[in-house]
Amino acid sequence: MKYRELGRTGWKVSEISFGAWAIGGSWGDVDDRESLAALHRSVDLGVNFFDTADVYGDGRSERLLARLRRERSEEIIIATKAGRRLDPHIAAGYNRENLSAFVDRSLKNLETESLDLLQLHCPPTEVYYRPELFDVLDDLVKQGKIRFYGVSVENVEQALKAIEYPGVQTVQIIFNMFRQRPAELFFGEAKRRRVGILARVPLASGLLTGKLTAESKFATDDHRAFNRHGEEFDRGETFSGVDYETGLQAVEELRSLMPAEMTMAQFALRWILMFDAVSCAIPGARRAAQAEDNARASDFPSLAGDTMRAIGEIYERRIQPLVHQYW
Ligand SMILES: NC(=O)c1ccc[n+]([C@@H]2O[C@H](COP(=O)([O-])OP(=O)(O)OC[C@H]3O[C@@H](n4cnc5c(N)ncnc54)[C@H](OP(=O)(O)O)[C@@H]3O)[C@@H](O)[C@H]2O)c1
Repeated sequence: MKYRELGRTGWKVSEISFGAWAIGGSWGDVDDRESLAALHRSVDLGVNFFDTADVYGDGRSERLLARLRRERSEEIIIATKAGRRLDPHIAAGYNRENLSAFVDRSLKNLETESLDLLQLHCPPTEVYYRPELFDVLDDLVKQGKIRFYGVSVENVEQALKAIEYPGVQTVQIIFNMFRQRPAELFFGEAKRRRVGILARVPLASGLLTGKLTAESKFATDDHRAFNRHGEEFDRGETFSGVDYETGLQAVEELRSLMPAEMTMAQFALRWILMFDAVSCAIPGARRAAQAEDNARASDFPSLAGDTMRAIGEIYERRIQPLVHQYW
């Protein structure tokens, strides 16, 4: 495993880290034993950074990570998120009282005195135009309840606005072979300000593992069944907002470029690591074998220039016209 600096935090995080949404819920049935096996295998392979949220399984994901930390002696850095417990999820809900309550709950779930990294959980755009809210986050740092804070954003515009706040240490954004726009303007700006970047949904919800087909079935409580058109949350979070059939066709073209020694998931993750502005990719995994497959993506050498160009060409022809402007 190789490590990269996470912005100005002083932490060196595994370039393949772990996304802990699926082990909480919204992806069909989960089994805590399998989830813990995936977490432990990740730590065995050098993963030291885990992304979760208070709403993943209503705290289940956070509690599994607390248990992981109890069971291991290695340093384990946990990034969580707050905001999505708000109902309705509106900008006004992002205030001192609510944020403090969310933080207290996460402290309890994570069995810690101080959260390593707290991220605002894809708040409405208006939140980024409320400097007083970032003062609240600074106060939480001063109180010692959080060490650092960052944001998880839906689109490039929010990301660019967020990094104007000097306390913002990290931006979590969707970035993968099907979501390339962040590399255009945002990555350069983030690098200039030494803001860490967490590349989320790196496998386009599994599409970029190459295992899905037109016949794949998803449980009714799996967002890949219930949120394809943005019925419950932003459409971009499910298959990166790419129409499923179009995505499958593009995956077949990408498959022909894949180096023989890699799995498709490793190819997709290695592509992300070609961008040095990225601190880490945070693939989700529900089983130890998936976690291992993903972590090993860090072991491969750089992709060839020709391969990178060919991936860019597939994106421009098949995906860009459909999604580029949205996020
Ligand atoms: N708003 C936000 O802030 C937000 C939103 C979305 C995600 N995130 C974060 O980003 C993380 C990653 O995104 P994601 O989980 O949505 O999507 P993802 O990482 O693109 O896809 C994860 C899914 O792909 C499948 N998979 C993973 N590794 C595999 C492998 N090696 N081989 C075959 N299949 C594999 C698994 O699903 P199956 O086994 O079921 O197919 C897994 O649940 C999340 O866990 C979460 O931490 C944050």
